[in-house]
Amino acid sequence: MLEVERLNKDFVVRHNFLARFGHPDHVIHAVNDVSFKIKKGEIFGIAGKSGSGKTTLGKIILRLLEPTSGSVLYKGQNVFEFNPDELKDYRRQVQVVFQDADSTPDPRQKLITALEEPLLVHRIANKSERRAIIEQALEQVNLPVSLVDRYPSALSGGQRRRAALARALVLKPEVIIADEPITGLDPVVSAQILSLLLKLNREFNLTLIIITHDLGAINYLSDRVAVMYGGKIVELVDGNLFESSSLHPYTRFLQGVSVGGFQDNGNTDIHQRSGVAGEGCIYAGVCPRAKPECFDVSPQLQELNPGHLVACQFTLEQ
Ligand SMILES: Nc1ncnc2c1ncn2[C@@H]1O[C@H](COP(=O)(O)OP(=O)(O)OP(=O)(O)O)[C@@H](O)[C@H]1O
Ligand SMILES: [Mg+2]
Repeated sequence: MLEVERLNKDFVVRHNFLARFGHPDHVIHAVNDVSFKIKKGEIFGIAGKSGSGKTTLGKIILRLLEPTSGSVLYKGQNVFEFNPDELKDYRRQVQVVFQDADSTPDPRQKLITALEEPLLVHRIANKSERRAIIEQALEQVNLPVSLVDRYPSALSGGQRRRAALARALVLKPEVIIADEPITGLDPVVSAQILSLLLKLNREFNLTLIIITHDLGAINYLSDRVAVMYGGKIVELVDGNLFESSSLHPYTRFLQGVSVGGFQDNGNTDIHQRSGVAGEGCIYAGVCPRAKPECFDVSPQLQELNPGHLVACQFTLEQ
C-alpha cells in the first residue's frame, strides 16, 4: 500500500562564516537512496540512532518535506503528484504522531478542542456526531471520556500520548506513523502504549510505521524492521528474526553484540552522524570488520535470505 522508491533528501548546511573564505557548503544526505514497500496492516519498524534520518524519512512519506529525488507511492499513486483533493484525502488517511507528542495537544486547548480540530478541518460530521466520534476514539485508546474538558497539563505523560493517538484516530486513518511513541515514558507506561498500538493494528488492520531507537519496542511490535545508518537502510529483516539473525555489523552494534572483537566503547558520537558525501560504505569508517574494498564500493541492499536484506559486502556469516 505504501512504496518508497529510491528516496534521497539532501540538506545544504551553510557555513555563513566560512563561506566568506570560499569554504563550500556542507551537504548532509539525511536520506540516502532508501527503498521499501509496506503492506496493508503491517507494522513496519524503523530503527537507528539519532541523526540517522528516521524523522526526515517519515516527513517525506507524509509529504511534509519534498525529497531531493525519488518517489513515495500510496496505493500505487505518487503522493507528490496528488492534486489538492487527493492530497487532502491522503492527509486524512495517513496520520502522524510525532515524538514531541507531549506538546501535540496544544497546552492552551481543552482536549475536546484538540480532538475536534481534525474533524473540522476535514469537514467531517455535525457537532453531535463529532462528539460521538471523539468519545469512541478516547475509548479506543483507553482514556476516560471525562478527560475531554481537561487541559493537557492535567494529563500524565502516558495519557498525553494516548490523547495524541486519539487525535489521529478520529479521522479513521489507514496508516499511522508514530515517531518515537515511547520516548521519555517509564517502562510500565511504555509497555502500555506499545500494547495499545498492537491492539489498534489488530482491531482495525491499521498499518503502522514505528520510528524508534528502542530496539525492545521494535522487537515487540514490528513485522519487519529497517535499520538506518547515515541516511541509508543497512538492514531490512523480519521482526521475528531481528533479534536472532541480524547480519549487518551496525545492527549487531545496536543490539550490543560484540562483532569481531569490537566492543562499544561508549563513543556513540561516531555512530550518530548522518551521511557525508563520498564513495564507499557509509559505515566503513567505524566498522570493526571493514576491509580496504569497503572504502571504495558502496554496498547495495541485497536479499541474502528470503525477506532478509543486508547492505554489506562482508556479512557476518562469511
Ligand atoms: N531542516 C534541516 N536542515 C538541515 N539539516 C537537517 C534538517 N532536518 C534534519 N537535518 C539533519 O538530517 C539528519 C537526519 O535527521 P533526522 O531528524 O531525520 O534524524 P533522526 O534519525 O530522526 O534522529 P533523532 O533520533 O534524533 O530524531 C541529521 O544530521 C539532521 O541534523
Ligand atoms: Mg527523529
